[in-house]
Amino acid sequence: MAQTWTPNSWRQKPIQQVPDYPDLAALDAVEGRLAKFPPLVFAGEARRLKSALANVAEGRGFLLQGGDCAESFAEHGADTIRDFFRAFLQMAVVLTFGAQQPVVKVGRIAGQFAKPRSSGVEKQGDITLPSYRGDIINGIEFTEQARVPNPERQIMAYRQSAATLNLLRAFAMGGYANLENVHQWMLGFVKDSPQAERYRKLADRISETMDFMKAIGITSENHPSLRETDFFTSHEALLLGYEQALTRVDSTSGDWYATSGHMIWIGDRTRQPDHAHIEYCRGIKNPLGLKCGPSLTADGLLELIDLLNPANEAGRLTLICRFGHDKVAEHLPRLIRAVEREGKKVVWSCDPMHGNTITLNNYKTRPFERILSEVESFFQIHRAEGSHPGGIHVEMTGNDVTECTGGARALSGDDLADRYHTHCDPRLNADQALELAFLLAERMKGGRDEKRMVVNG
Ligand code: PEP
Ligand code: CO
Repeated sequence: MAQTWTPNSWRQKPIQQVPDYPDLAALDAVEGRLAKFPPLVFAGEARRLKSALANVAEGRGFLLQGGDCAESFAEHGADTIRDFFRAFLQMAVVLTFGAQQPVVKVGRIAGQFAKPRSSGVEKQGDITLPSYRGDIINGIEFTEQARVPNPERQIMAYRQSAATLNLLRAFAMGGYANLENVHQWMLGFVKDSPQAERYRKLADRISETMDFMKAIGITSENHPSLRETDFFTSHEALLLGYEQALTRVDSTSGDWYATSGHMIWIGDRTRQPDHAHIEYCRGIKNPLGLKCGPSLTADGLLELIDLLNPANEAGRLTLICRFGHDKVAEHLPRLIRAVEREGKKVVWSCDPMHGNTITLNNYKTRPFERILSEVESFFQIHRAEGSHPGGIHVEMTGNDVTECTGGARALSGDDLADRYHTHCDPRLNADQALELAFLLAERMKGGRDEKRMVVNG
């Protein structure tokens, strides 16, 4: 029988990836202040996301989750948020068309600040300093002072998340996401990209359909679903003191919810079943993500599923698989078989980023062809196992960065230095993100045709 859960019961458990705060009284004071701040999201919204994800788990939808590896204080601005939202909407439209299913839109945004690190220290020449752990914890500058964890940063991260979310809500509900604007989303550098023509053709078809619907009386004025979209936020629940401070009882249901974001996930480095991160996450009712890397055994996964989703509720748990293009075929089938055998309801999502990171010219990068290859394998394996390839989880930006090599513009190792801006892992630029969406759309269309053949054959 599991022990009683409280928002702070994680504090009794062993824990990984904890920052070394020099002033614990100051940390305590900040957590006390955060606990009085308004929630960033509402329980009802998290429930709506959960029910959308339940449809995905049942094979009737697709999850698109993406955004920065790490949000930064320096890059916070209206243009960055708009460019991301625009690229994300474009991807969603392409996927909706390909899948002919609802696409559940979840950003890695408005709270994605804390980073787990493989090493606690970073070396440059003769100097060794504590690693950068994300702007919510310390500074990225390679100085002793910047790398000291500062609790005041949590307040800054909270305020930035609130401002970001405010703009996202306006974009999603205030007309920007109106399908009548499908052509306008292609402003900026993607306009001259190799994906532009493909996108324009698709946008033309959507506009034509909209004109037809208008002719029969269905317009964005009388049908809010044409002018508004559901957009949700997510981040890794790594910094548990911050998460605890924003954990609140929902007055409608009496349940505990994380109000720092709609969905939170558990990283590949912090998923030990008897440790703090699993303890915290099991008690809140939000939809959860669980990163699944090569070291996760089938039994280990089933144990985690029982801890995190004992009622086997569809939509509660998304398994975000991140094996690497060369390892996915070895690891994914055994996990799918165990989950299917036990009848566990999950969303299967593919993170083709974190298993495909290499170092080139001293830059961390990811070859686009390996990202595509992992996605392709993910789809093929699910088709072969008869399970639903339910989603994709990517690190991306709406900007014209040069962080991942390859793609239609064939970025090379020598291009990386041009516009390498990420605060942590390399992201797909808007162009590469759209190219990935087109590939996925083709795969989903392929899957549909296959199913139809089986039904008719
Ligand atoms: C991440 O999503 O940025 C991350 C650190 O992933 P993982 O836990 O899968 O390594
Ligand atoms: Co990352």
